[in-house]
Amino acid sequence: AKFFTTDRPLKGKKAIVTAGPTYERIDPVRFIGNFSTGKMGVALAEALTEAGAEVNLVAGPGVQAPHGKGITMTAVESAHDMYEAVMAHAADAHIMVLAAAVADYRPETMATGKIKKSDTGLTLTLTKTDDILASLGKIKQPWQTLVGFALETDNELENAAKKLNGKNADMIVLNSLRDAGAGFGHETNKVTLLTAGQEPVTLPLQSKRDTAKAIIDHMIQIRHAEET
Ligand code: CTP
Ligand code: CA
Repeated sequence: AKFFTTDRPLKGKKAIVTAGPTYERIDPVRFIGNFSTGKMGVALAEALTEAGAEVNLVAGPGVQAPHGKGITMTAVESAHDMYEAVMAHAADAHIMVLAAAVADYRPETMATGKIKKSDTGLTLTLTKTDDILASLGKIKQPWQTLVGFALETDNELENAAKKLNGKNADMIVLNSLRDAGAGFGHETNKVTLLTAGQEPVTLPLQSKRDTAKAIIDHMIQIRHAEET
C-alpha cells in the first residue's frame, strides 16, 4: 500500500493520539509505571499531521515533545488524567489512536507521606483503571475512527481480535514482542493490523516513522472502503 494517494487526505480532520506510559502514584515519591517511551505514539501523531490532520497528543510522563506544526501536546501523569484529557476532546475527534501503555491498575489509595520501610514487607492493594479505548468504543459515532493497540505474549492474534471486537475498535495494531528490534525503546517496530472482516496484515520490520505512516495509510483505506 502506498502512503497517501491524495495530498493531505485528512485535511480538516481532528485527531487524538495517546502515547507513553502512565504513572500511578503509591506515595509522594513513588509510582507504578512501565517501560513505554511513547515513540510510536509520537510517530503516529506526526504521520497524522503530515496527512493534514490537527492532532491533540495526550502524552504520559517522559514522552519527547514532537516537532511539526499541527500537534498540540497535553501532558498527563496517571491513567485517570489521560482518561479525562481524552474524554474532554473525544466529542469532536474524527480519529482516535490509542497508543499509550496505560496502567491497568493503580494503588487504591495514595499515601500522603512517604511510606517507611518495615521488616514485615509491604502489601499494596490495586484497583482497576478505566479503560479509555473501551470507553470510547461505547460512545463512538459512525463518522469516528477508533484505533487501538495490543501487546500480547501468547495467542497474539486471537487476543488482539478479542480486543478489536470487545472494545468496538475499527483497527487494532498488534505489537510483535517476538522480533528483535521491535517494541519498547527500539527505533524500529513490526506490527500486524487487524480490522473487522479482513485477514490480518503484517507489516515489515521498519522504522517507527514508516510503521506509523503505514498504519495511518491502512486506516484511511479501511475508511474509504466503508464509505464507498
Ligand atoms: N487501553 C486504554 N485504557 C486502559 C488500558 C488499555 O485505553 N486502561 C488501551 C491501550 O492504549 C491499547 C489497548 O487498550 O490501545 C489495549 O491495551 P492492552 O494493554 O494491550 O490490553 P488490555 O485491554 O489492557 O488487556 P491486557 O493488558 O490484559 O492484555
Ligand atoms: Ca493492559
